Amino acid sequence: MKIAMVGVGYVGLTTAAALASWGHQVACVNHDAKKIAQLRTGQVPFFEPGLSQLVSENTKANRLSFHTRLTTALQDAELVFLAVQTPMDESGQANLSFLRQAAGEVAATLTRPAIIVNKSTAPPGTSRLIQEIIAQSLHPCPVVVNPEFLREGSAIEDIMHPDRVVVGGRDQEAVNKVASLYEHLDTTIVKTDPESAELIKYAANAFLATKISFINAIARLCDQIGADVEDVSLGLGLDQRIGPAFLRAGLGYGGSCFPKDLSGLLHWAKGLGYSFDLLKAVQEINTGQITYVFTGIRAMVGANLKGKRLALLGLAFKPNTDDIRESPALRLAQLLHSEGAELAGYDPQAMVQVAAAAPYIKLCPDVETACTDAEAVLLLTAWPEFVRLDLNELAKVVKAKIFIDTRNVYDPAVVRAQGWRYWSVGRP
Ligand code: UGA
Repeated sequence: MKIAMVGVGYVGLTTAAALASWGHQVACVNHDAKKIAQLRTGQVPFFEPGLSQLVSENTKANRLSFHTRLTTALQDAELVFLAVQTPMDESGQANLSFLRQAAGEVAATLTRPAIIVNKSTAPPGTSRLIQEIIAQSLHPCPVVVNPEFLREGSAIEDIMHPDRVVVGGRDQEAVNKVASLYEHLDTTIVKTDPESAELIKYAANAFLATKISFINAIARLCDQIGADVEDVSLGLGLDQRIGPAFLRAGLGYGGSCFPKDLSGLLHWAKGLGYSFDLLKAVQEINTGQITYVFTGIRAMVGANLKGKRLALLGLAFKPNTDDIRESPALRLAQLLHSEGAELAGYDPQAMVQVAAAAPYIKLCPDVETACTDAEAVLLLTAWPEFVRLDLNELAKVVKAKIFIDTRNVYDPAVVRAQGWRYWSVGRP
């Protein structure tokens, strides 16, 4: 099929590259000429494992192209995907201005009927808004909602092997056509109305965040009684009705999705007269997790952090990404900085971003430099390279052998056996 993709962020680009790899002709469009020039040469402007290669391969095979002009991208397009950002505005609601603008430009530019497919995460009911805007086009264009469930860092794996695909719309023919894009995948396709499709997306993110806050709350109780949250999590997750995923206690969730989408869902529910108190508690536990870990650090390092050098390992909001949006690691760093700690940090991918956002962190080229003279080593993001640290080697450069493992990566007994004082979340 001939497909246009409006937006080349991580959702738009991953989806476009995957669709092209399945044999479709995909034309991506973005107003930023520099970005488009980069993409034409196969350079992806952010870190996502495997994406560069997929983009290059499909560009070379003439299935994937990049444009600055909507007219060119929309030419002959049967499907027009909207994959633009819907950031949180100051009040916590989803800001739909980019989506409105994209839909308006598409409506004004279309020269033939097409199916409009919304991939941008937005409150239930947004497809009606898109439909109203698209109605200004001279051509009949049904709107279909096809939410994304990609995780940064494993976006390609997620799109190639999805747990499910959701397609929502009122025009059955259009729904079937969009669903047909995914029929070759070994997955269940849920066909529904647009509002249900939109709500599935919001509910999925809210539920996953709820699991994380739940286990973090349990972790705090574990600390009170000397229980081990990792064992509790294992025992919980083996119940098939609960499942093991997203039960890792730690520093809490961050990123560009969970905080924004929880807030968007809360506001949307409030607009319907429902106070979604469960989600408020999820947010509260998540915010509180930073202070909880901060208290743990003080208990280990001493209450007065002024002038104390702390090594921060991992600053992105999670491993395998260079994204620092709402990063719990940076929120903790900010708190430590405000207490006068001297921070030396290292992240395998997010250094440029951190330099701009948190200039108070002295960035180091590697783990060893960050840990040199440190009065405590803080593991904040569980990058694979931090999971296999040689603690005996690190012991030679640190000032004090204190290891704060905020992601519960290490076995406490093993670290302690090497002479370190060790603190993790919800474990004795
Ligand atoms: C999330 C969802 O997982 C995707 O399905 C969804 O498509 C995406 O949002 C989106 O809406 O675009 P993402 O934010 O990329 O994906 O990352 P996750 O892997 O979900 O992690 C989110 C946060 O939760 C991270 O800070 C991570 O460290 C934290 N987390 C995750 C935990 O603290 N514990 C866990 O057990 C799992």
